Amino acid sequence: MTKKIKKPVIAGNWKMHKGPAATREFALALAPLIPKGSGATIILFPPAISLTTALSTLEETGIAEQVEVGAQNIHWEDEGAFTGEISAEMAREVGASYALIGHSERRHLFGETNDETSLKVRAALQNELRPMICVGETKEEREEGRLEEVITTQLVAAIEGLEKGEIEQIAIAYEPVWAIGTGLTATPDDAAEAHQILRNKLAQAIGTTGAEGVPILYGGSVRPENAADLCAANEVDGLLIGGASLQPESFAAIIEAATKG
Ligand code: PGA
Repeated sequence: MTKKIKKPVIAGNWKMHKGPAATREFALALAPLIPKGSGATIILFPPAISLTTALSTLEETGIAEQVEVGAQNIHWEDEGAFTGEISAEMAREVGASYALIGHSERRHLFGETNDETSLKVRAALQNELRPMICVGETKEEREEGRLEEVITTQLVAAIEGLEKGEIEQIAIAYEPVWAIGTGLTATPDDAAEAHQILRNKLAQAIGTTGAEGVPILYGGSVRPENAADLCAANEVDGLLIGGASLQPESFAAIIEAATKG
């Protein structure tokens, strides 16, 4: 099978790392490292408190055109008595263009349910944020042969009831839970298998052409050394990177590896 050439989407999920000062330092260091004309869509997901600094520093260094910014999590209401939360509307107001939704740490550490991810996806779309919906199976679920069931249930819950035009706005990140932060990476064939399942499910919802336009990223222990092979796997349209996105050098090396092939 030949792989269709698409513009890869390379996203860095910083999790609970980097306040405003470290964010500024990162953006200043990243600017000269971004490969010129890489053609990649590059997205950073800093902590909410660093969004404004990320955007202003990217602007200052002249790479705001190439690097977009997103929120790691949003609440589904625009405002209200939800201590500690931020809304999609607020993230949009400061200039975010994406929202990460249903990350495995939200699901497994903070008990986020499929129903909540569904509400968040809707809130993101209503506020002109592109939802990047994360799905992935645990080690036990994989061993029990439940990969397809788990990731399609998560995807369907997130997009059920949306209009075709709304589904065309989403991005998906396939992140096997056993590969996140563990140093264990899915093989390119594992990634291709899961991505094909997700692509088929999308095609059922919005047709083949629509489904091909939705980027499906792989995430889980992506490093500069494995980025090219993962990105070259069938149906893999980009990478969502945690640990290795924290250093400008390794993040830039991943962009370079992913765009070379
Ligand atoms: P990792 O995290 O690259 O550190 O495994 C990926 C993620 O959680 O998005």
